[in-house]
Amino acid sequence: MSAERIRHPLLRDRVVSAEAAAALIQPGETVAMSGFTGSGYPKSVPMELAKRIDAAHGRGESFRIKLMTGASTAPELDGALAKADGIALRMPFQTDPDARQRINAGTLDYIDIHLSHVAQHVWFGFYGEIDTAVVEVAGIREDGSLIPSTSVGNNKTWLDLARKVIIEVNEWQPEGIDGMHDVYYGTALPPNRKPIPLVHADDRIGVPSLHCDPNKIVAIVRTNGPDRNSPFAAADECSQRIAGHLIEFLQHEVAKGRLPANLLPLQSGVGNIPNAVLAGLASSGFRDLTAFTEVIQDGMLDLLRSGVLKVASCTGFALSPQANEEFKRNIDFYRERIIMRTQEISNHPELVRRLGCIGMNGMIEADLYGNVNSTHVMGSRIMNGIGGSGDFARNGFLSIFVSPSTAKNGSISSIVPMVSHVDHTEHDVSIIVTEHGLADLRGLPPRHRARQLIDRCVHPDYRAQLEDYFDRASRDSYGKHTPHLLPEALSWHQRWLDTGSMRSAV
Ligand code: COA
Repeated sequence: MSAERIRHPLLRDRVVSAEAAAALIQPGETVAMSGFTGSGYPKSVPMELAKRIDAAHGRGESFRIKLMTGASTAPELDGALAKADGIALRMPFQTDPDARQRINAGTLDYIDIHLSHVAQHVWFGFYGEIDTAVVEVAGIREDGSLIPSTSVGNNKTWLDLARKVIIEVNEWQPEGIDGMHDVYYGTALPPNRKPIPLVHADDRIGVPSLHCDPNKIVAIVRTNGPDRNSPFAAADECSQRIAGHLIEFLQHEVAKGRLPANLLPLQSGVGNIPNAVLAGLASSGFRDLTAFTEVIQDGMLDLLRSGVLKVASCTGFALSPQANEEFKRNIDFYRERIIMRTQEISNHPELVRRLGCIGMNGMIEADLYGNVNSTHVMGSRIMNGIGGSGDFARNGFLSIFVSPSTAKNGSISSIVPMVSHVDHTEHDVSIIVTEHGLADLRGLPPRHRARQLIDRCVHPDYRAQLEDYFDRASRDSYGKHTPHLLPEALSWHQRWLDTGSMRSAV
């Protein structure tokens, strides 16, 4: 039998139903919830809140909240509240289809910001006051300190700043996760900031639990529900080819002496291509790698088990159901090798630069000069958000972006004359990889970057068109430094919209 998860006797008296806890949240509030990439989000209170919102709307009353989290959550949180039309404003990152539909219809306001900025901007007062925090934990200690669950995200900030706090204690989360976290309480606001004393990916600089003034805890809800835990599709040929180019490149960099034999700390986005890269690393001969990243997905657990990866620092998980079972079964092993931090630390520009992280992230499209669009389809329709990609792209040792060379069954090229939206500028992007090859843009002036991208990354069906554009732009452009023919540069996107290539996405 598992131990009592709420070990503080007075706090045990605050246990209520999820319905009663949700009743403490009022229309118009700014509500900050836990959750990062489908892990560690509250499982019950948001659903009960959505029911309350539905009922209020049924009576003709307005009920919407401003919602903040660590990053994306799950259908029980973003999905339920978006379906109920209960979110007036959302930040900083989400991936839910219902919320996305409302954001793109213009009925849900969304602020898409760098994940490293969230906590500090809230501390700076840019988002006003936090009325309620709803935070999932794995348990409450005798002294009232909180054992974080499978994500830390911005929970420290939410607990510090919220006027009232609702805690969900989720018994589904493994008790053995206690001790995996490292919560840093040394951050301060300018002009009193000090260097963050972390020099290796596996340094521990904080404490294993979260603090919260018990007087602010207005309700505690017991839950027993799984994280989102979506299964990963097996890596397809395109992902495997991208992974192959990337691993060959890393081996080449080691051979050239630009990277140490065990590389530098890896950061990896979530998805099939990053998972294929991690799987490729397993058989590539690398040993003793480290990761300083946001999310641990299946591939990283495999690498830890095989010893290819020595240690991984993160702020959350994105595991399949099988990987989650493995994680729980061998939690003592993983607790020695995984360190979970707040996202202001996992994504901190100072640390990403000091450690020299190798950032690997997905993109929608890149242009001939290396500007990258990670967020907007056809320049106006948001897919997810920038997430942490900019924290690593701007500050990492290497900033790598990966994508299939085409989208929508080959009807759209992922390399275009000019990106329809810019998330990462040409100044922040060093490597671009598609299934056709890898363009190394480091040290290259703009026109040489264009040549690399056309020769190495563009799908053969689009190569002649891009070459033609580039040749004419090089001849006729107003300036010859970054040649462009305006407005032809963006006419590709308009053509795809006009010809219906985008129909499947609308
Ligand atoms: N033009 C039009 N649509 C495009 C496109 C392009 N060049 N490239 C991709 N798309 C569409 C796909 O067709 C797909 O649409 P669908 O959902 O209607 O099928 C969608 O965008 C997602 O593309 P997919 O190929 O499934 O890519 P993915 O799952 O690898 O995600 C990003 C790619 C860019 C959306 C994803 O990496 C992302 O959100 N990145 C930003 C955040 C980030 O980097 N996080 C990591 C650090 S936290």
